[in-house]
Amino acid sequence: MKVLVTGGAGYIGSHTCLELLGAGYEIIVVDNLCNSREESMKRVQEITGKKLIFHKIDLLDEQGLDNIFKESSIDAVIHFAGLKAVGESVAMPLHYYHNNVTGSLNLCAAMLKYGVTKLVFSSSATVYGDPHTVPITEDFPVSPTNPYGRSKLMVEEICRDLYAADSSWSIALLRYFNPVGAHQSGRIGEDPNDIPNNLFPFISQVAVGRRAELAVFGDDYPTYDGTGVRDYIHVLDLAIGHLKALERLDEHSGTHIYNLGTGRGYSVLEIVKAFEKASGKQVRYQIAPRRPGDIATCYADPAKAGQELNWSAKIELKQMCDDAWRWQSNNPKGYI
Ligand code: NAD
Ligand code: UD1
Repeated sequence: MKVLVTGGAGYIGSHTCLELLGAGYEIIVVDNLCNSREESMKRVQEITGKKLIFHKIDLLDEQGLDNIFKESSIDAVIHFAGLKAVGESVAMPLHYYHNNVTGSLNLCAAMLKYGVTKLVFSSSATVYGDPHTVPITEDFPVSPTNPYGRSKLMVEEICRDLYAADSSWSIALLRYFNPVGAHQSGRIGEDPNDIPNNLFPFISQVAVGRRAELAVFGDDYPTYDGTGVRDYIHVLDLAIGHLKALERLDEHSGTHIYNLGTGRGYSVLEIVKAFEKASGKQVRYQIAPRRPGDIATCYADPAKAGQELNWSAKIELKQMCDDAWRWQSNNPKGYI
């Protein structure tokens, strides 16, 4: 089976490519490398001992995309390509809508033209906004609070409309919680441009000495220690979720939403402690004001993915920290 992976050079994409190759899939990756490096693709091939085909193409380049579909008989698409920085999306909404929504429209149009109707899409728990309670199930109301989140929801809607118009589409909308960690080899991992927005890469960079200290955004939330609680999921568990979704699409048309999380939340200070233990390094921190747009607590009810995909997250927090640290300490400056 030949799978087109958009955004495959990125953090989650590269780990999913690794699992796909391991499971015997043929892969074509398209990525414009706006937030990644081709080095990740070299390393995925080196780790697995298998080949993939890489094209540096932007999803906004319709002709480039058309050529890929024309020259390869693609069976299914996993669509990771997108911009993901919440703050940047607030500052540059049109850029985000253009890249994430128009890029997805171009992709779906090419799929339609070439009769490819199996799609796995990277959505996000951010579509739930501030949930009225936890754990979050897939039927919770959606109300994203920023352009990034709204771009994800728009693509979900487009997918639902595609299926309404043509029932041969099989689409999995995967709502990720907080992906962290790295492959155990320490050869691939998260390599954010500039200052990391997310907790794990920031802590890793403090531990490795690239940043002086972590700002803990708020200690007055209604959580047990006052800091924000999230559902951190190992990126390899997440990657396997994509393979399970792909398998199920073979037999189930429709649009299917799945929460991919562990179902368990950890606070910021719990993560700091766990990371210190894994790395043997002190993670200096200071309490800072709340980050605008943040919520107190967010974790998944992943039961639907358990029942329908036969998937559950297996990897514990300790290994998430061990693996994130191995990647960071072996590659203090990322892929450079
Ligand atoms: P990433 O930035 O590492 O990977 C995204 C990849 O897409 C990058 O390699 C980038 O170069 C590529 N890309 C972006 N726009 C493109 C375009 N127009 N054409 C071609 N390539 C393009 O991010 P990631 O963490 O691996 O996230 C993958 C997907 O999962 C994204 O869609 C993201 O929104 C979604 N997601 C991520 C998280 C997270 O915390 N990492 C959480 C929920 C959802
Ligand atoms: C963020 C995004 C969300 C996205 C998710 C996964 C925002 C407002 N939300 O969510 O859209 O889906 O990442 O990519 O950006 N924290 C600190 N100090 C830091 C960084 C984070 O204290 O330097 C805290 C946060 O307040 C939060 C927790 O750590 O309580 C996790 O933060 P983060 O990794 O950014 O993820 P989310 O807030 O869940």
